[in-house]
Amino acid sequence: MIELRDIADEDEERLYRWRGEPEVSRWMSDADFPSELDHRRWFQTLRDDPDMHGWMITRDDAPVGLLTLTGLSSHHRRAAWNWFVGDADARGRGVGRAAQVLGLERAFCDLKLHKVWSEVMADNDAALKVQAAVGFRREGYLRGHVLKDGQPRDVVLLGMLAEEWSALREGARQTLTEARLIHA
Ligand SMILES: CC(C)(COP(=O)(O)OP(=O)(O)OC[C@H]1O[C@@H](n2cnc3c(N)ncnc32)[C@H](O)[C@@H]1OP(=O)(O)O)[C@@H](O)C(=O)NCCC(=O)NCCS
Repeated sequence: MIELRDIADEDEERLYRWRGEPEVSRWMSDADFPSELDHRRWFQTLRDDPDMHGWMITRDDAPVGLLTLTGLSSHHRRAAWNWFVGDADARGRGVGRAAQVLGLERAFCDLKLHKVWSEVMADNDAALKVQAAVGFRREGYLRGHVLKDGQPRDVVLLGMLAEEWSALREGARQTLTEARLIHA
């Protein structure tokens, strides 16, 4: 079963390792791979800053990834969605599909956000496919928007509104419960 849980002390080292995995870091727009000190500061922010909320994605209770929402203190009641499945063995097995339904429930039902949006590199087929499948809509295309390893990369903007999730959530949850990916 796929679940989300709060971040714990012991996740700091695991997250540092995952952020350095080539299959994760290649899709992140951060300037460089962080030093251990920068990672520690980021981890503290993740736990303490009210502008940001993060959850570990777990599969049968084992941590496999991270999902964060940032920009929560904005008066717009919107947040930016960032995520990765850090455990290579867990990718491509429905973890992302399930985690995003659980994350959208947290965003819209618990945090009462109005909008969730996401910046995805234009060649990140896996993320674009799984986010489109749950109902994120394409809202824009930004050419050469980020520099990755010094090279300009295009970015796709995706978004979902609270009312769209209200219409989609029952169906999305049912598909995942039938597939025994999430609890009913
Ligand atoms: C994007 C990501 C979170 C998706 O999670 P996942 O657990 O691998 O995804 P799922 O197993 O739920 O698969 C979702 C869909 O994407 C498809 N998919 C998976 N890898 C793919 C790839 N490399 N290319 C194209 N489609 C792919 C799957 O076939 C599946 O489609 P289906 O349901 O029609 O079979 C994960 O692959 C990941 O962490 N990637 C690296 C970091 C990253 O890109 N983060 C997002 C930054 S915006």
